[in-house]
Amino acid sequence: MISPSKEAIPLPALAGFTKRHGSWFAEEIPLADLAKQFGTPLYVYSKNALVQAFQAYDRACLDANGQRRARIHYAMKANSNLAVIDCLKNLGAGFDLVSGGELARALSIGADPSSLVFAGVGKSSSEIRQALKAGVKSINVESTAELQKINRLAAEIGCRAPISLRVNPDVDAQTHPYISTGLRGNKFGIAYHEVLKTYREAALLSQIDIVGIDCHIGSQITTTSPYLDALDKVLDLIAQLKREGILIHHLDLGGGLGITYGSETPPDITEFANTLLNRIAERGFSHLEVIFEPGRSLIGNAGVLVTQIEYLKPGAEKNFCIVDAGMNDLMRPALYEAYHGIVPVQEKNVKPSVYDIVGPVCESGDWLGKDRLLAVEEGDLLAVLSAGAYGFVMASNYNTRPKPAEIMVDGKNAYVIRQREKITDLFATENTLPERNT
Ligand code: LLP
Repeated sequence: MISPSKEAIPLPALAGFTKRHGSWFAEEIPLADLAKQFGTPLYVYSKNALVQAFQAYDRACLDANGQRRARIHYAMKANSNLAVIDCLKNLGAGFDLVSGGELARALSIGADPSSLVFAGVGKSSSEIRQALKAGVKSINVESTAELQKINRLAAEIGCRAPISLRVNPDVDAQTHPYISTGLRGNKFGIAYHEVLKTYREAALLSQIDIVGIDCHIGSQITTTSPYLDALDKVLDLIAQLKREGILIHHLDLGGGLGITYGSETPPDITEFANTLLNRIAERGFSHLEVIFEPGRSLIGNAGVLVTQIEYLKPGAEKNFCIVDAGMNDLMRPALYEAYHGIVPVQEKNVKPSVYDIVGPVCESGDWLGKDRLLAVEEGDLLAVLSAGAYGFVMASNYNTRPKPAEIMVDGKNAYVIRQREKITDLFATENTLPERNT
């Protein structure tokens, strides 16, 4: 994910965004019109791109006879806007949640609790209570201590707790270290050699129902082989558990399938799903209900961040293109040195130069793109591509900067799915100390 210093990197295929006569459109609306109407920085999503991505994934979950082999539980951490999750719910998605907040979002759009799996390495007691009371399909457990806590809390509430253990299969997902989760040294999951023991322990607990097994090895993974390695290891566990009389109903393979930001070539979704689902069938596990938890691969390329150029600043070593979106709006470049395509919203016939595209935040890590060849002038708009996943959701108010508005475009219509924050909102809940009476 190191930002390559070449402008020759191809643009990703974007279902919802097209360039027509030199101007970029979100479906049927020029991005420039949206920026004019709603201001910048602005997140813009294409509903059609989201729907297409979901339907392609969902089709891949069916076999040649149209029989369902797997279900999609969208990992809403990638983008939890209510409009996004509601759209996916209506298409038939369940959800993967990692906090009480995400659970509340899912319930607020009327998601069926039996379509919710609750993951996360550090669930609090109150989050576990919320999940149990809501009646989620499964709590994905990441340690013995958590298992014991869930058992205790279920006893207090007077319910049974459906659980899966999250296996750490110790495979290398070959991705950025910050988003790799299935290695022995990661904080995630239960160490492979401890899993059987932990299931045996779970089977003895009074309030626990073992329903599944879970595994998530990382994110932005661009080859299928680490998934196959993890899958084989997890199937070995399921077989052993069966011999011991512990039956597993569902197999959750997590998310993590990568997308094209620049030069990545992730597997096609049908090929990816077939490879994994065929392996499950070949090894005699077709009876298992299989779950995928994609996030990025559904929404990543369905969104862009539109930003305006404040200044062009020639420098001794670098030219800077200073824009009104910063690391607080899109954190991925600063955090992972992630590459995002960046294009002028309207092509212009001016002399191109190579720029670092940087934000207004007081940090040298505040950049969105490096060494990009752009033909632009002050006041022009840029679109940062592939910003639909882990964009807005990771935004912060650093430097007391209000978070951008989010717009969803559906054909010729644009909907405000989140209003731009007002500056006064940002400190409305803060207080100064009472005056001291000295
Ligand atoms: N399931 C679990 C248990 C996860 O932890 C994640 C992502 C997913 C599913 C969805 O993974 P996806 O399909 O979106 O790759 N902020 C980082 C990505 C962090 C991913 C965390 N877990 C980024 O911007 O690249």
